[in-house]
Amino acid sequence: MSRATYWAVVFWVASLSGLAQAEPRCDDDWLRPIAAPAPADNTPTSERVALGRMLFFDTRLSAKQSMSCASCHNPALAWSDGHATAVGHDGKILPRATPTILNAAFNGVQMWDGRKASLEDQALGPFGPDEQNLPLEELERRVASIPGYRALFEQSFPGEGVTRATIAKAIASFERTVLSTESPFDRWCRGDAPAISTAAQRGFTLFQGKAQCTLCHQGFNFSDGAFHNIGLAKRGESEDLGRFSQVPIRSAKGAFKTPTLRDVALTAPYMHDGRYPTLLEVIDHYDRGGDVTENVSPDMKTLGLSADEKRDLIEFLRSLTGEPMDVMLPRLPASS
Ligand code: HEC
Ligand code: HEC
Repeated sequence: MSRATYWAVVFWVASLSGLAQAEPRCDDDWLRPIAAPAPADNTPTSERVALGRMLFFDTRLSAKQSMSCASCHNPALAWSDGHATAVGHDGKILPRATPTILNAAFNGVQMWDGRKASLEDQALGPFGPDEQNLPLEELERRVASIPGYRALFEQSFPGEGVTRATIAKAIASFERTVLSTESPFDRWCRGDAPAISTAAQRGFTLFQGKAQCTLCHQGFNFSDGAFHNIGLAKRGESEDLGRFSQVPIRSAKGAFKTPTLRDVALTAPYMHDGRYPTLLEVIDHYDRGGDVTENVSPDMKTLGLSADEKRDLIEFLRSLTGEPMDVMLPRLPASS
């Protein structure tokens, strides 16, 4: 046998046994962008971002002056709240989990059921009775009664005044700065081979292959922005129909928006109702192909993952945790 034939046979045998398989690779689609898109009528100037940050953290913008956006989207808890489902006005337990607002700027639509079209559209919702409980006229009046805010609105939105529209625009501008920081996965993706463990690398291969996670968790934000029913069993009496409440077609029943997986190791408990305290419970759910069959996405299948493979997947998910973000609490303008 010639030398060339010898090596050809060696490579052929190796490829059959998987030995010649390439290292898991990462293409640019997985890399985190450094800036978020903004609508043409709300350019995120530094004045708007600074003002939005103040409004986001200001508890005066609630009925009892005790709750702000940050009460539920707490930067110390990866912009979520650590609760299974949110705790609203007067301690009321709300039906859904607080999603992180990290990278919300990249969402096509907002909320678990996609009922809000943009960050601007979303930003006034929490002033409703369940959360900050401040009617919008009262919100405008309260913000405008603070001289420091009046001046900052004039700088940010010259001639537009303190209105619900400018309040929403400022908050949305701030949210467009709440973006993933660099994670070990990003460093590895850019070629720093030891940035993540070989277990995490195996996890990434499983994520895209045997475990089929990329059917829904795709791209740098690990979301396809679409709605799926992943076969969560009904709990208690009332059933959350999810996307169906917006789009009443059968396949939308029990479907929720695919959440980002960036920083996911920091945002337990998981799912729209916070039912799973750990990532292992999430992986076990997918491994058994969900718990119900009615209306379930055709992409949900039993996976047959071994205990080692589950560990590798979790290692990979942990590698998506970004550098801790330094979040400065803003100094708020005095009440009068
Ligand atoms: C009482 C807790 C609470 C407060 C206060 C609150 N939120 Fe939320 N937030 C939630 C919950 C719960 C959801 C998901 C609700 C749903 O999908 O039905 C949510 C969803 C969101 C989303 C959508 C994220 C996504 O991925 O779809 C954004 C953006 C957001 N909130 C921003 C804000 C802003 C801005 C404020 C302040 C004006 C605020 N929130 C106040 C609990 C809260
Ligand atoms: C058919 C689409 C689909 C597939 C396949 C899928 N996911 Fe999901 N994933 C979703 C949706 C939708 C949710 C939210 C479901 C809900 O709360 O009702 C979700 C939620 C999650 C969550 C919870 C995130 C949070 O913030 O609460 C994690 C973690 C997760 N998926 C990881 C994975 C992994 C790992 C795989 C592969 C084993 C996978 N997913 C496969 C669509 C999918």
